Amino acid sequence: MTATGVAPGKVLLVGEHGVVHGGVAFALPFPAVEARAELRAEPGPLRLESPIWSGILDADTPPPAAGLAAAALATFALLDRPATGWVAHLEASIPLGAGLGSSAATAAALVRGILLAHGRVPGDEVDALVHLAEQAAHGTPSGVDGRVITVGQPIAFRRGETLDETQLVPTGAVFNLVVGYTGVTRRTQVAVARVTAFKDNEPVAAHAAMEAIKALAWEAIAAWRAGDAVAVGTCLDGAQAQLERLGVSTPELETLIRAARDAGALGAKLTGAGMGGCMLALARDATHADELVRALAGAATVWKQEYRP
Ligand code: PMV
Repeated sequence: MTATGVAPGKVLLVGEHGVVHGGVAFALPFPAVEARAELRAEPGPLRLESPIWSGILDADTPPPAAGLAAAALATFALLDRPATGWVAHLEASIPLGAGLGSSAATAAALVRGILLAHGRVPGDEVDALVHLAEQAAHGTPSGVDGRVITVGQPIAFRRGETLDETQLVPTGAVFNLVVGYTGVTRRTQVAVARVTAFKDNEPVAAHAAMEAIKALAWEAIAAWRAGDAVAVGTCLDGAQAQLERLGVSTPELETLIRAARDAGALGAKLTGAGMGGCMLALARDATHADELVRALAGAATVWKQEYRP
């Protein structure tokens, strides 16, 4: 008996850092990369096989997989079954530490795999189970990664809000995104701390940047719904300027952003926490997305993803 759980990566289109301070994050699933968990029935304790860590999943599982263990054990508890008799083989095309949601996606794939292995169709419960894994791995994440990855649609996410229809952001036209990875692991904690320090040291400038990011996130959501790619692109450029003011951009990110803009991107910015990680750019159409992929040849990895109404 086998069952396979799958989950996509994610990107933050606009709103990173603003979401930590009461704003909205406009997040998209990013299925160009994904995580897969194959559950195989095998006698003995519940085990994980993965490139980052392999061993028994229980309360003593060490940090690289402690979050996955927490989510897996909670899933078995939800099913009212003992956590034994399965091996989970985990694989992901999502680079670790790139800000593309690898930890939330691997947890979601594992939870889905366990549910499917027990004949249960995964539903809304996956979000809360993934959040357990994210808390064990990252302390107090906003929860946007787990939410967008489990919903699998663009969402307008605010911290502490439960999912309802109003969070779903329908895609008003075909949008083509290109994502480039600097190859430098992004450091969420360091970036969030840098923004907090900036707020303490230069409250007026920090407040202005933060409010601008929050407004741009809402503008981008409205433009995405309306299918207005030019307006979405303008929001991306505007958000990048504010993220630079906040001090979370880097020369590596800006080199890629400039390359995308020089190649005619409608807009480009860093995505995720910054201080490394990825940038994204909006193309005019699918052919232009291929041109942007070529223009981003300096990136460690480049992906493209089309979003359709
Ligand atoms: O790079 P990521 O996916 O960890 O993005 C973090 C986004 C922040 O807004 C900076 C933090 C958060 O928890 O939302």
